[in-house]
Amino acid sequence: MEAVDLNEIAEAVGTPAYVYNAEAIRRRHAELTAAFASVPHRIHYAVKANGNLAVLSLMRRLGTGADIVSGGELARCVRAGFAPADIVFSGVGKTGAELAEAAGLGLDSINVESVEELADLGRVAAALGRNVRVGIRFNPDVTAGTHPYISTGQSGIKFGVPCDQVADAVRVLRAHPALELRTVAIHIGSQITSVEPYRRGAGRLVELWTALREAGVSSITTLDIGGGLGIRYLDEEPPTPAQLAGAVVPSLRPTGLRLHLEPGRYLIGSAGVLVTRVLYRKLAGGKVFLVTDAGMNDLVRPSRYGAYHHIVELVRRRGPEQVADVVGPVCETGDFLALDRSLPPIQAGDHVAVLGGGAYGFVMASSYNARPRPPEVMVEGGGFRVIRRRETVEELMTGETE
Ligand SMILES: Cc1ncc(COP(=O)(O)O)c(C=O)c1O
Repeated sequence: MEAVDLNEIAEAVGTPAYVYNAEAIRRRHAELTAAFASVPHRIHYAVKANGNLAVLSLMRRLGTGADIVSGGELARCVRAGFAPADIVFSGVGKTGAELAEAAGLGLDSINVESVEELADLGRVAAALGRNVRVGIRFNPDVTAGTHPYISTGQSGIKFGVPCDQVADAVRVLRAHPALELRTVAIHIGSQITSVEPYRRGAGRLVELWTALREAGVSSITTLDIGGGLGIRYLDEEPPTPAQLAGAVVPSLRPTGLRLHLEPGRYLIGSAGVLVTRVLYRKLAGGKVFLVTDAGMNDLVRPSRYGAYHHIVELVRRRGPEQVADVVGPVCETGDFLALDRSLPPIQAGDHVAVLGGGAYGFVMASSYNARPRPPEVMVEGGGFRVIRRRETVEELMTGETE
């Protein structure tokens, strides 16, 4: 990774370990910023993709705001130095306590996902006696063409205010003068590999903004197209930032409003790997199993979404390829990193890197099977540093009583 040998990192911190490349994050950020340079815009990094404090601090220094979905992510952002006015709070199930904290801090925008939540926030704002900037995340009824579990823009799912409830939303806004509607938002899904859903989504955003204006709402300053830009895990050809901009800017620019983007995976997904060691090369039932010390608890995407992650050997060996299942130590048959994968003649003791591990990797890790979560390492400036040490078994029992 850059000039650093991942084997060296593996020896130093042990395996499994997540390793991120700061320079790759910077490059992605620069590409996205350049693509949208022709319109006033702000990138709010989607913290859910990777919430490590060092990652957040890097994003903040690059100039991004933050997009959060919980009070926990809010606390992380505050710790990493984000100003409340640089934070956007999305999420379909915010609690009263989360709404009150966010309203009290004065976030850039609290993006509500139901008319009911808007009414709750109105009561919270009145109780606090202060004006609160809100966004309405609409459900634009656009299909993103991605995995159903991360497709969030079509009607009939839990996300966003349905378009036919715009009038109800306006009624609630009128009843709660402390609410200032500033943003109209959508987020249509994650790992999106075509610009078409974005083009349709941007069109729907402008239609909604127009409907709100016609209903007498004149306070809107921002249109938020959410995150979701895909990356290449196997052979996908996701749009470039320039192609994304080409799809949405023509319809958004005439509004004269500010554009918000909420990328997570795009900024950090390809910048990270999970390094793991092959514990055993096992033959069973006519198959080869490479049993690694990383399992589904460390990286859940293959078993949860059937997601493909490229696996690269870190020790070069001569010999014929092998077809193998790469499996973890967790006691579930569904614990795998790859199935029926053609791989070089990797042997027990070798390190391998699981690519595309920067986003939705560590953040989705669990301690299932009482397995401490791996450390996280940042490669930067020709060296590396541990940005989260390996969890200990002792820590897993913290707070428990016999
Ligand atoms: C509201 C919102 N914004 C942004 C994102 C980030 O998505 P991605 O990491 O695909 O860019 C998500 C993720 O699902 C989200 O729910």
